[in-house]
Amino acid sequence: MKYLIINGVNLNLTGKREKSVYGTETLDDLNAKLAAYCKANGDEAAFYQSNIEGELVNKLHEAFLGKTCDAIVLNAGAFTHYSYALRDAIAAIDIPVAEVHISNVHAREEFRKHSVLSEVCKGVVCGFGVGSYIAAIEGLKNC
Ligand code: DQA
Repeated sequence: MKYLIINGVNLNLTGKREKSVYGTETLDDLNAKLAAYCKANGDEAAFYQSNIEGELVNKLHEAFLGKTCDAIVLNAGAFTHYSYALRDAIAAIDIPVAEVHISNVHAREEFRKHSVLSEVCKGVVCGFGVGSYIAAIEGLKNC
């Protein structure tokens, strides 16, 4: 399987911001773990991060039109809670997408408990740090 791991807004600061919530590992650290995990299982992983909503939409379109991957793991950050543009992009592509979060969004502020993306994703994993991404990779294997 070829996975595309996409991280959205503010996720580039992982390991540097709100360490009590998001931990001390950087996004590069997390991606290195995911790359090693995929490699060990005979899978491939590509990585993308952007703070710009339209660039994330473009990446989803590119994956769909260019058939660049079999499945997508998406942590959209705060866009999760209000981006109808990302929701429509996920609905538009026929690649399974898993929504992930490092933190347990249900144990935090009220606004984080609602995702506008979940309905169009295959599944949702949150609260396990890098483990959320690994669980999503495993879940997407059966899609
Ligand atoms: C997050 C949770 C979001 O609510 C938040 O806006 C983020 C990160 C997470 O990984 O826990 O930026 O997606």
